[in-house]
Amino acid sequence: MDMPATGGGFADLVQDDRVHTALYKDPAIFDEEMDRIFKNTWVWVGHVSEVPQKGSFKKSWVGQQPVIVTRTKDDEIHVLLNRCRHRAATVCEKMKGKTSVFVCPYHGWSYGLDGKLRAVPHSSVYGEDLDKSQFPLVSLRTEQYNGMIFATFKDDIEPLEDFLGGAKKWIDLFMKQGAGYPVKVLGEHQFRFGGNWKIQLENTTDAYHFPIVHKTFLDSLDAETENVFDVLGQGGWVEDLGNGHSLMVMIPDLVDLEENLDAPIPERFAELAQELRDEGYEDLEVRRIVRAVGGGGFNLNLFPNVACSMAFFRVLRPVSVDETEIRHVAIGMDGGPEAGNRMRMRLHEHFQGPMGFGSPDDAEGWERVQRGAASGDDLWIMVNRGKEPLVDHPAGEAVTDVSAETGMRAAYQMWKRMMSA
Ligand code: FES
Ligand SMILES: [Fe+2]
Repeated sequence: MDMPATGGGFADLVQDDRVHTALYKDPAIFDEEMDRIFKNTWVWVGHVSEVPQKGSFKKSWVGQQPVIVTRTKDDEIHVLLNRCRHRAATVCEKMKGKTSVFVCPYHGWSYGLDGKLRAVPHSSVYGEDLDKSQFPLVSLRTEQYNGMIFATFKDDIEPLEDFLGGAKKWIDLFMKQGAGYPVKVLGEHQFRFGGNWKIQLENTTDAYHFPIVHKTFLDSLDAETENVFDVLGQGGWVEDLGNGHSLMVMIPDLVDLEENLDAPIPERFAELAQELRDEGYEDLEVRRIVRAVGGGGFNLNLFPNVACSMAFFRVLRPVSVDETEIRHVAIGMDGGPEAGNRMRMRLHEHFQGPMGFGSPDDAEGWERVQRGAASGDDLWIMVNRGKEPLVDHPAGEAVTDVSAETGMRAAYQMWKRMMSA
């Protein structure tokens, strides 16, 4: 067995086909990651539907930094550091809401939705010593792509669209699950697991674990649906999309939800289809909604913190070297039939919910990885599966087997680039 490198820089800890266990458990590496990665790239902070009106806000994070995403009365989206400029108290502790001002609860400094410091109680005591224009909430650079809002601490970073690159096409395909309606966030829940954030990052394009870890989920399905979720057996693939992003197509037939609209309606959605017909929806629209109801047939992993995972967003937040918060954000149709969104929620709960048949099993696997890695430095984490491209695959020359560890290698090469920059 190869022994891990010692004494070298971070770059030595990531090789082409393996990574060192220190990446999961060294607090010094974690601190560097928060600086070199989370303060140096575009980080997902929300979806436009979460700040739908002028005055809407939501709380979010960029790495370990608390931020507030706001929509001003000029309809602009801002991302503000959630830290009072007086003595650093967080000015907003509500997850979401509407307001015209954030008043710091400690001494009452108040800030507009654009971050400007508006008023300071008993300001005369400052005399000339307080120029309010010098103390706004710190504003992060922010850009959007197809409804997804990203922010960054790095002012001279490349435009978001360049950073997303090859992932943009897949974000566009993902948003087709609105079935002609805009996509909107329906709700979310959070949980934490006792492990490093990169263990979750690895999971989103890991099809290898699916039939094993998710046997309980597969056993809970009818035979027709179980076939749909035979993710290793349908000619899918994994692809490195550049900049640490990766794609895993598990159900090729469901890549483009606007195609194959004349396919037979699956038995489990027959009742929904009938309900929509009874509500007066035309046949084509019924087919469109039903086909999109379970989401797209792929997971898109966007480095470093968000996944467009079949029918929901999975967002990670590093809490400490061995603790990670996950948010599962359910999405649906904005303005579409209630019955469609209800079905989407039930499917979401079935796998991703806190009592679901999927996610709790994933979390168990992740915690075991952390426990194993924590107990020794002598063995590396292997990500060498499926390095050879598939020959003559319709998706192109660069794709690898659906169960390949290509996505992990892509993420770790990006990690290495950023950590050694
Ligand atoms: S800490 Fe916010 S007003 Fe004092
Ligand atoms: Fe899983």
